[in-house]
Amino acid sequence: MPAIFVTSTGTDIGKTFVAAGLIRHLRREGRPVDALKPVVSGYDSSVVETSDPAVLLEALGRPVKADEIARISPWRFHAPLSPDQAAAREGRAIDFEELVSFSRHAVETTTGALFVEGIGGIMVPLDDRHTVLDWMTVLRIPPLLVVGGYLGTISHTLTALHVLAQRKLEIAAVVVSESERNPVALDETVASIARFSDGIAVVGLPRLPAGLVEHPVFAQIAALLAKS
Ligand SMILES: Nc1ncnc2c1ncn2[C@@H]1O[C@H](COP(=O)(O)OP(=O)(O)OP(=O)(O)O)[C@@H](O)[C@H]1O
Ligand SMILES: [Mg+2]
Repeated sequence: MPAIFVTSTGTDIGKTFVAAGLIRHLRREGRPVDALKPVVSGYDSSVVETSDPAVLLEALGRPVKADEIARISPWRFHAPLSPDQAAAREGRAIDFEELVSFSRHAVETTTGALFVEGIGGIMVPLDDRHTVLDWMTVLRIPPLLVVGGYLGTISHTLTALHVLAQRKLEIAAVVVSESERNPVALDETVASIARFSDGIAVVGLPRLPAGLVEHPVFAQIAALLAKS
């Protein structure tokens, strides 16, 4: 499996949940896997357990310790804002070139699968001039687009697919991670998106009950990613 960039139409949709599910699936299969969440906002060092790096490290079977968090998430900001704004609150700024070379180095040196989780949606600003879309465009690894099942998701998803295609990014798959409130059955949302997705595979992941993190759909997504 190549390196995959896990992106989304927005925040709190399911990027980390899906990445962690895929990581667990690959580990069960005995396949090597690593993950990065290079930029984190809303990071509170006194409550790390629920942070994205902690969820990813747990799925990887690695200790949730400061050095491991720093390894996979070097850019951490306290304010729960877009990264440019969260960094500015601390008098800092993300150096885009540094972010690209950090990510590129990981892509080039990781043996096995690598999931790079973006931040927020596809066009969240990273600094005054670059968005996540620019980061993905430079990195050129296939995006896995995680979207929700809420009312409005079809338009958000098709807009995102259009923008990614404009940058000639080869989307690995779309995962509809069912939201807490959905206007229609998950299958209907999946079918609607698939009708307009120009052949890109669209897979539905049901909303799993609290505490449950395993589902056969992760194996299906992993099989799709292996082909990208
Ligand atoms: N299919 C699902 N079943 C159950 N819970 C889910 C599902 N998808 C997402 N969640 C839950 O929804 C919340 C938001 O998901 P997650 O943290 O993966 O979003 P995200 O897109 O990574 O957000 P961020 O932009 O903050 O990185 C989490 O509590 C997660 O466990
Ligand atoms: Mg996340």
